[in-house]
Amino acid sequence: MAKNGTAQQRLGKKGERVAIVAGLRTPFAKQWTAYRDTTAQELGKLAVAELMTRVGIDPNEVEQCVYGQVVPSVHAPNIAREIVLGTGLPRHIEAYSVSRACATSYQSTTSIVDAIATGTIACGIAGGADSASDVPITVSKRLQVALIEASKARSFQDRIKAFASLGLKDLAPVPPAIKEPSTGLTMGESAEKMAKENSISRQAQDELALRSHSLAAKAWGEGKFDDEVMEVYVPDRYEDAIRQDNLVREDGELAKYAKLKPVFDRKHGTITAANASPLTDGASALLLMREDKAKALGFDILGFVRSYAYAALDPAGQMLMGPSYATPKALDRAGITLKDLELVDMHEAFAAQVLSNTQAFESKQWAKDHLGRDEAIGEIDWDKFNVNGGSIAIGHPFAATGARQITQTLQELKRRGGGLGLCTACAAGGIGAAIVLEGAEA
Ligand SMILES: CC(C)(COP(=O)(O)OP(=O)(O)OC[C@H]1O[C@@H](n2cnc3c(N)ncnc32)[C@H](O)[C@@H]1OP(=O)(O)O)[C@@H](O)C(=O)NCCC(=O)NCCS
Repeated sequence: MAKNGTAQQRLGKKGERVAIVAGLRTPFAKQWTAYRDTTAQELGKLAVAELMTRVGIDPNEVEQCVYGQVVPSVHAPNIAREIVLGTGLPRHIEAYSVSRACATSYQSTTSIVDAIATGTIACGIAGGADSASDVPITVSKRLQVALIEASKARSFQDRIKAFASLGLKDLAPVPPAIKEPSTGLTMGESAEKMAKENSISRQAQDELALRSHSLAAKAWGEGKFDDEVMEVYVPDRYEDAIRQDNLVREDGELAKYAKLKPVFDRKHGTITAANASPLTDGASALLLMREDKAKALGFDILGFVRSYAYAALDPAGQMLMGPSYATPKALDRAGITLKDLELVDMHEAFAAQVLSNTQAFESKQWAKDHLGRDEAIGEIDWDKFNVNGGSIAIGHPFAATGARQITQTLQELKRRGGGLGLCTACAAGGIGAAIVLEGAEA
């Protein structure tokens, strides 16, 4: 209990809370489509520059930028600093980059939250960007050694000798690893394992995926995303514009979902291209400030970070159960229970992962076995759950998703006149992240 008390205190008394002043993202696009010729770094710059312009803040007020990327860039390893240098922000704004797999922009956000809550800074930028269209393709270890030896060779003969022992297969390009190093399973295979162990049916997964698309399409149709998603003229030609996410499907039919073949276990599996989050490109950004500073500068506040928590479990078990471990910790730290929430936004890596977690949330036995608690985390109210769609429909540019969820939740709380919201995500390595948000008072 003492631990929870400390965390609550750390996130600030009234007047000194950590405020989220604004959030923005690019439209999210399917891999190899609208953003195929650009990079995560460029998308990140666009999101941050546009956010700054829209808020109209004097950039000298910003003290730090923490930004993330999951698919690494060999050309710009510190994306956060490149964003500062590439957006016309003052060069004295210090910056560092973070990676926590799919919870990366949870991490960049809570890093800024901590810096503000501890009085280190009063204003910072957080966010994340990823491009599944711009993945680093590397070479084999043997070719790497040969290239280095050749570059150091003093004679033409030595240079040729460096390559002499290479075989044809050493010359093949090496794509980035998609398997979890500790388990050898891809995310899809881990989700498939969870579907089987938790008896999550194919139909339930397809229904959840269709729900995600229908709600996201409705939200776009009603203009709900207009303020939180910018228009992007795609670098570096700036000729083609993209205004909306291009993965959201308006006219879904369950019968069509049912026809798709499973991808990760072709024989007995239930996970398909429709009930998994797609490989996506995009970027998001948040501007955070200490409450009294935001008020003194005359900014409208979108909401506050009330608490947060991370948790981890053995990835060899049910790897994507992170939300069920992180959520109760974050709720305790906020001093609330699940039913106090107006909204819950759970990252949809796979429908099977969402349904495994919602099943765990509602189970007293699961809470006893896995959390050592007497009570279940709480009943899911589907009228409050992922109400404007989630990552299955909107897409999932890994590092951008957390900040996308935070902005989407705070904007919806605003429409509903305030209240509390939870954002939660699973991430590779068995990590879970959860943030409790407080909508600004109307
Ligand atoms: C699942 C995955 C392999 C599918 O990739 P893909 O085969 O390139 O997917 P596509 O978009 O081409 O879809 C395949 C087919 O399904 C169809 N489809 C996809 N979503 C659909 C939907 N909602 N309704 C109907 N059909 C759909 C497509 O139209 C396509 O049909 P076609 O072959 O007739 O053109 C890929 O998205 C993936 O790896 N996702 C998981 C990413 C991941 O691990 N994320 C980490 C989670 S944290």
